[in-house]
Amino acid sequence: MHVVVTGGAGFIGSHLASYHLARGDSVTVVDDLSTGTLKNILPMLQNPAFQFHKADILVWEGLKHAVSRADRVYHMAAIVGVKKVLEDPRAVMAINIAGTERIFRAVADIRPDVQVTIASSSEVYGFNTNSSFSESDDIILRSGGRLRWCYAVTKLADEFLAYSFMYKSGIHVVIARLFNTIGPRQTGKYGMVVPNFIHQAVNNLPMTVYGDGTQTRSFCDVRDTVVALDLLASTPSANGEIVNVGNDAELSILGLAKLIAQRAGSTSCQKFMSYVEAYGMEIDEISHRRPVLSKLHSLTGFKPKWDLRKTLDDLIALERGSERQ
Ligand SMILES: NC(=O)c1ccc[n+]([C@@H]2O[C@H](COP(=O)([O-])OP(=O)(O)OC[C@H]3O[C@@H](n4cnc5c(N)ncnc54)[C@H](O)[C@@H]3O)[C@@H](O)[C@H]2O)c1
Repeated sequence: MHVVVTGGAGFIGSHLASYHLARGDSVTVVDDLSTGTLKNILPMLQNPAFQFHKADILVWEGLKHAVSRADRVYHMAAIVGVKKVLEDPRAVMAINIAGTERIFRAVADIRPDVQVTIASSSEVYGFNTNSSFSESDDIILRSGGRLRWCYAVTKLADEFLAYSFMYKSGIHVVIARLFNTIGPRQTGKYGMVVPNFIHQAVNNLPMTVYGDGTQTRSFCDVRDTVVALDLLASTPSANGEIVNVGNDAELSILGLAKLIAQRAGSTSCQKFMSYVEAYGMEIDEISHRRPVLSKLHSLTGFKPKWDLRKTLDDLIALERGSERQ
């Protein structure tokens, strides 16, 4: 099978690439390296079944050729993370929407039979105050122009783009609503909580908790995420469906900080920081983000293999290794 991964030098995309190479598939990655890095794909560059194109998906000339050879496309390229979103919301709107439209248009024009999986986000549930989220739950977005929500709007637009192209061009798309994903190669540079806590704990630095730390999250190991995405892509009944992808074990952010400090044997304390201090503006915080996974399970039989403690221990060991280098 030939697999195209947009954003394949990023965190999740690079794991998709290595997962498929390990299974004997050939993989083409396109990435502009804006947040992704060559380091993420370094071992793959020697593999003859792997091709890398450094390009912007908005203008990449090789897109049609890549799609013409593909059996499957994972569209992961996007601007991600609250810091990046606030840095340039115009780019978020352009890349996350126009980029997705360009992928769908190429597929519709050249290979409508190719299987496409896109990365939507739990952010689309917006301000819904439920304690957990099913795919049929209401989406509640706030008026008032808080820029934090522009990422959610782009991901929602991507979902409707997918429906439009399915309806008018008959393309095959799975919409994966990814919840917080963690694991090796995730960077803390753009405000992701787990890599930051791991770095702080391993170095006995104060652990920066945004808000009051009572907000809860559910974290899925990326090595489980890629298995779920592959299962969805290969399950015909998942075609045209929106499906939550994540892990439903839930804990508070303060609880996460304490757990990481304990597992790292760290002397770090927790330091609370307001959103205004962290981001330079008020941010609407979401109190819970737990996926209901019954649809994913009933479509594919998927169950996560990595529990949070195992992932954290792995990340702590990797951080210690990189500190020693
Ligand atoms: N990590 C999570 O917890 C999470 C949660 C929900 C949804 N998602 C979605 O999953 C996907 C992957 O996220 P990630 O966490 O791996 O982030 P990431 O930033 O590591 O990956 C995104 C990749 O896209 C690339 N990219 C950005 N703009 C591009 C462009 N114009 N042309 C080509 N490449 C471009 C970046 O360089 C990067 O490598 C994204 O679509 C994101 O919205 C992630």
